Amino acid sequence: MDKFIVQGGKRLRGEVEISGAKNSCLPILAAALLGEGESVIENVPNLRDISTMVKLLRSLGARVTQNNGSVSIRPTNALVPLAPYKLVSTMRASVCVLGPLLGRLGEAEVSLPGGCVIGARPIDLHLKGFEALGAKITIEHGYVKAKAASLRGSEIYLGGSFGSSVLATGNVMMAAVLAKGETLIENAACEPEVVDLANFLVRMGAKIEGHGSHLIRIQGVKKLRGARYQVISDRIEAGTYLVAGAVTHGDVTVKNVTPEHNNALYDKLMQTGAVITKGKNTVRIQVKKPLKPVDLTTLPYPGFPTDLQAQLMALMTTASGISVITEKIYPDRFMHVPELNRMGARIFLEGSSAIVTGVKKLSGAHVMASDLRASAALVLAGLVAEGRTDIHRVYHLDRGYEQVEEKLSRLGATVWREKE
Ligand code: EPZ
Repeated sequence: MDKFIVQGGKRLRGEVEISGAKNSCLPILAAALLGEGESVIENVPNLRDISTMVKLLRSLGARVTQNNGSVSIRPTNALVPLAPYKLVSTMRASVCVLGPLLGRLGEAEVSLPGGCVIGARPIDLHLKGFEALGAKITIEHGYVKAKAASLRGSEIYLGGSFGSSVLATGNVMMAAVLAKGETLIENAACEPEVVDLANFLVRMGAKIEGHGSHLIRIQGVKKLRGARYQVISDRIEAGTYLVAGAVTHGDVTVKNVTPEHNNALYDKLMQTGAVITKGKNTVRIQVKKPLKPVDLTTLPYPGFPTDLQAQLMALMTTASGISVITEKIYPDRFMHVPELNRMGARIFLEGSSAIVTGVKKLSGAHVMASDLRASAALVLAGLVAEGRTDIHRVYHLDRGYEQVEEKLSRLGATVWREKE
């Protein structure tokens, strides 16, 4: 197991290329199962979660090859609709093979995803959608089994107690594109990754309208063809590097991005006093004076993304005042708090809110990564802490950040890996 070392104190300057969006690739790779021929997905980052999805597609019987950043998927007629526990338990996003298997084969058996450190992660909305389309759902021995002789379009309300659901919207869309008749998904998720998935399905021949809004309309078709598709860039990776520029009072430009995907983040960063400059596919951040505190609440897109909450909290640990950060998507998503406090931060939790009192400086320490975005927050804190920070269990970071030490080093950070 590796650990990630950060030597604090360097201002980050320069440009960083942002990779393809992990949370677009995962459902899009699964959606390729619906095509009658080969699909080629481009701009795919080299991440653990992508390798897990490739393994899963191969275990289902698809022929999958990877060639630096492109993934080719050929569904065969020998698809086996079973996603085993050993793979699903390492990546809950594996549930997004349910929709395509149900859509193409009329059956699927997928291990129920466990919870994870950020919350229970139920899939009740996914199952509600499949049942509305005519599938029979049973839960046996930790597996969800879905069966449908044929799927029929339906009107489905997909809002849950935390608002819309990204992967439930994607899963139901993937099951509905081959159903007979029209499907309406109400309170659909509007995230750019959902729009990306819908655009890929349309490229395959699906009939979808309204993606990006809360009402998605799908006309079922008989079959879909394979397609070539380039996924969008990763707005969460881009946001993480912008925060890295801010926390070190530096000057960082993220390249190869879609600027409008992070408007909620820019709004908060500008409130801290950072200067944001948007280009056609670049965004630059400059920080020249102490950061002001900000309050934020995470919400479904276009609200402030929960996947950038930990990173913003790391930024606020050295702001000049008190910030209140409220988590409305995953109320327990605060595993980074005790670790940041070990570095001298002053954060206390009150229900689903964290009260962050800015301190003059953080000090480097041994800290434990717990989930993908919490580990990113610990790296950000390490960049500005006095001395050395050792981040243990850094495999969490590798799930969502491609070539993180190369990208940070190119910006002037002193970071490296060591064997535990
Ligand atoms: C996606 O997860 C992302 N993962 C998550 O990113 C992200 O945090 C999340 O969306 C919210 O934006 C991928 O796309 C692979 P949800 P997803 O369904 O779709 C509740 C990362 O760091 N809910 O939108 O699983 C759920 O518990 C990961 O890259 C139900 O109640 O999230 C949560 O409170 C972490 N029932 C809320 O809805 C359901 O059936 C939003 O979850 C489904 C979800």
